[in-house]
Amino acid sequence: AIDISKLRDQTSYITLDSGFKNTGCTKSAITFLDGEQGLLNYRGYAIEDLAEKSTFIEVAYLLIYGNLPTQAETDNFKLQISKHTLLHEDMKKFYDAFPPKAHPMGQLCSLVSSLSAFSPESLNPNPSKEDIDLGIIKLIAKMPTIVSWIYKGSLGEPFIYPKSKLDYVENFMNMTFGQVTEEIGIDPVVVDALDKLLILHADHEQNCSTSTVRIVGSSGCNLPASISAGISALWGPLHGGANQAVIEMLELIKNDGGDTEKWINKAKDKNDPFLLMGFGHRVYKNFDPRANIIKKACDKILDKLGINDPILEIAKKLEDAALNDPYFVERKLYPNVDFYSGIIYRALGFPTDMFTVLFALGRLPGWIAQWKEMRENKEPIGRPRQVYVGEVNKHFVAIADRV
Ligand code: ACO
Repeated sequence: AIDISKLRDQTSYITLDSGFKNTGCTKSAITFLDGEQGLLNYRGYAIEDLAEKSTFIEVAYLLIYGNLPTQAETDNFKLQISKHTLLHEDMKKFYDAFPPKAHPMGQLCSLVSSLSAFSPESLNPNPSKEDIDLGIIKLIAKMPTIVSWIYKGSLGEPFIYPKSKLDYVENFMNMTFGQVTEEIGIDPVVVDALDKLLILHADHEQNCSTSTVRIVGSSGCNLPASISAGISALWGPLHGGANQAVIEMLELIKNDGGDTEKWINKAKDKNDPFLLMGFGHRVYKNFDPRANIIKKACDKILDKLGINDPILEIAKKLEDAALNDPYFVERKLYPNVDFYSGIIYRALGFPTDMFTVLFALGRLPGWIAQWKEMRENKEPIGRPRQVYVGEVNKHFVAIADRV
């Protein structure tokens, strides 16, 4: 008989890298980041330049198609998007079916996955380039409508339909808050702030949700379902869900009297599960360049909107305390992109449970670009191995004899 224990021991020769801390799964030409230098580039362009000088739609095009679009390419991209912003009327029934307090991320996963039902071309196992481009345009076009309608549904308010005359972010804000009138338009400070946040979130190489999209897509799975899987991965508090968790933490500290030192000590205590949400990053071990940009933008936006949010003070106190504390310094724990983003989302009027959905709206072009690159590179199906540590050589016991 085969001695399975010997076979089991052979699995220990398999490279084991829990959490993939130093294992590359692909070659990619989309995003470059250097954790030591705190550097982030999309397709060779510095994130600082893109955040300051570009728009989210240009960045989406850049990530997906590889070059900054010319004016004509931008106009055409926007035109194609504006043609597909409406959702199929039957999709409204999904919204009716969710309980009013259903978490927006759960709704987003289902609604995005359901798009395949309304886009038969997405199910073609050998899609043409035109099919793929159409699927990409549809997703980018429909995502803001899906997200805004989740918000409207949570309030029990009627949906606001997309307006093709408005720019991407303006249209989204109008569907969400209904602020745009022909005469006054929407506050450019608000549009600019959200546009910047979407750019900063647009891609981040092989993070948990992006590698999920690639691995799901590597089985030949369609684009909406692959993106839906990425949305699920993003939901967790250690990943995109951190932006919601940060605000909840800051509120908790404020309501507890604002003693930041007490909470810093809790985060350092290894017997306490509490972590300083919005701190630390798997790759950035110096600073997160996105956090630097957001922190500056945050002050400016709150000032321009005339908002005095007490949790901003708590955030700054926590950051100052942590940056001078040996525990955080030795472990290279710095504020990440999520530490300040929630404060801006809140200033723009979004409820806390919508924050991770906004992250998903920003990350969408990155996920699409990575899914497309994975297909174009004809990457093999993703299938990690494991080291088996369970039992072997056991004899089957009939149910009546089991104890
Ligand atoms: N607060 C307190 N201690 C922390 C924190 C934190 N936020 N983050 C890490 N540490 C400690 C760990 O306990 C560990 O300490 P030890 O060496 O004494 O055991 C050490 O720092 C290293 O941390 P790891 O968990 O091993 O680092 P990893 O790279 O696996 O995790 C992560 C990175 C998940 C981001 C982690 O820092 C964390 O949980 N942060 C809080 C959640 C968060 O903000 N997530 C958003 C990340 S950015 C994004 O996804 C967009």
